[in-house]
Amino acid sequence: MKPVVFITRKLPDEVVVPLQEKFTVRMWKSESESVPRDVLLKEVADADALWSVIADQIDKEVFDAAKKLKVVSNLAVGFNNIDTEAAQSKGVIVTNTPGVLTNTTADLTFALLLATARKLIEAESELRKGNWKSWTPMDYTGMDVGGATIGIIGMGRIGEAVARRAMGFDMKVLYHNRSRKLEAEKAYGFEYKELDDLLIQSDFVVILAPFTPETKGLIGQRELELMKETSVLINVARGGIVDEEALYFALKNNQIWAAGLDVFEVEPVDPNHPLLTLPNVTVLPHIGSASIDTRIGMMNLNAYAIIDVLEGREPENRLV
Ligand code: DGY
Repeated sequence: MKPVVFITRKLPDEVVVPLQEKFTVRMWKSESESVPRDVLLKEVADADALWSVIADQIDKEVFDAAKKLKVVSNLAVGFNNIDTEAAQSKGVIVTNTPGVLTNTTADLTFALLLATARKLIEAESELRKGNWKSWTPMDYTGMDVGGATIGIIGMGRIGEAVARRAMGFDMKVLYHNRSRKLEAEKAYGFEYKELDDLLIQSDFVVILAPFTPETKGLIGQRELELMKETSVLINVARGGIVDEEALYFALKNNQIWAAGLDVFEVEPVDPNHPLLTLPNVTVLPHIGSASIDTRIGMMNLNAYAIIDVLEGREPENRLV
């Protein structure tokens, strides 16, 4: 009997065919809707490999339901949706997709930063509504990016790529990270700061840290109060790193100037979420890595990892 692969989203043929040539592949029928929990639990029962996306909670219940699972390959660099301890205790390998999405996610981070600073979305939407009556001196005026100070929380591969883009805008780059990046400090002049100092000194605070028990709620009321009244918060990592209630309060009361959010505590975010009622918030539906080449590149990494594990080789990008 051929090994069984279950894929939790409908994926393009070009990434699925190589698996179909070797294994029995079953795939959830929808590209846009998550696989229902009961279907996931049923499908995983006799699967040898599970190809998941960040919207799937691959927790202990899933690992308990799986009888012969050897690998979970997650279509993301983040893997907070997977209980890696449960995977390890069952001897299941977990892989992710780092590297290929670095520049794409850094581009989106910078695009969101610029769009938020210069009110691009608001200005575009007013024009489309027919509200552009005349050139005006102060409408849609925003914050300068060139020459400003950017503070990056989480200086991994994507953080560094954002910092290099910031240099092109003559920005001063501060960063906070679990460990110092001495080579980058020396090569580019990035400055390490304790979190509070970074928040106090930055014009743009950009969150790119992984979502872990240590970063959950990292930016709350106290931290937002440290930020400048003219500052902008950009979150392209995971929603749970920011206390959304505290952020709403800070934006509503002009404690900070604006926020650009690609991620939310609960996704998809409720269109009636209080944050979406504020004019000084720019929102995106978690599209950091969404370029065609990058998404196909990520999927290829998943497919290779599954093939490697099912054929008895060590996969690249193994997490546990
Ligand atoms: C990731 O890779 O973790 C992104 O958030 C999803 O593309």
